[in-house]
Amino acid sequence: MKRILAPSILAGDHACLKDSLLSADKDGRSWIHLDIMDGHFVPNLSFGPQTVADLRKHSGIFFDVHLMLDQPQKYIEPFAQAGADLISIHVEPKYDILETLRNIKSLGKKAGIVLNPDTPVEEAFPYLNDVELVLCMTVVPGFGGQSFMEKVLSKTRTLSDLREQNRQSFLIEVDGGVGPSQVPACLESGVDVLVAGTAYFKGDKKSRDEFASSVENS
Ligand code: DX5
Ligand code: ZN
Repeated sequence: MKRILAPSILAGDHACLKDSLLSADKDGRSWIHLDIMDGHFVPNLSFGPQTVADLRKHSGIFFDVHLMLDQPQKYIEPFAQAGADLISIHVEPKYDILETLRNIKSLGKKAGIVLNPDTPVEEAFPYLNDVELVLCMTVVPGFGGQSFMEKVLSKTRTLSDLREQNRQSFLIEVDGGVGPSQVPACLESGVDVLVAGTAYFKGDKKSRDEFASSVENS
């Protein structure tokens, strides 16, 4: 499978997120990552379903929606209706995770599970048959521009080995602090989807193209 570089729109100018979306789309990216924060599960706020729905009108690019919410089960339908293609939910808060994953699928969307950097990889195991993606956070979620935590790649290696043993097909994603220098280690550790905010949007067209090609043409 072709590896994917998913620009995180969180790093764009929030007065004109459409511009960041359209630039990623025009540059040939196939996914865009949308970070939703509630000020409870993470100490920051971003944007909600209305923004996602308004962005949806401008592009058919794959919408990878990462919910950083204490009660994600309450917001699945609004984000599904807003045009999410994949909705990822964290394992750390207390709610019925399996039922929420099934709800995502019943709405015709792909489902993902997310682990914070210090959450053991085993916490994803009960859900591996019910998800299309496992996201391993490589920063403590809440803010862009942090440093990549290399130790998390031991979890992506474990997941990649398990996937092979069990003939499963979920994608493995990392998110946080990813730049061109992290690409080789991520690819060697079984990662399929690399989310990049700051490193992607701060670069000029040539550096964005080189960054993307180091992932997508690997
Ligand atoms: C962190 C978010 C990330 C963030 C990545 O809470 O989940 O998606 O946008 O941004 P960078 O690449 O700047 O770390
Ligand atoms: Zn994210």
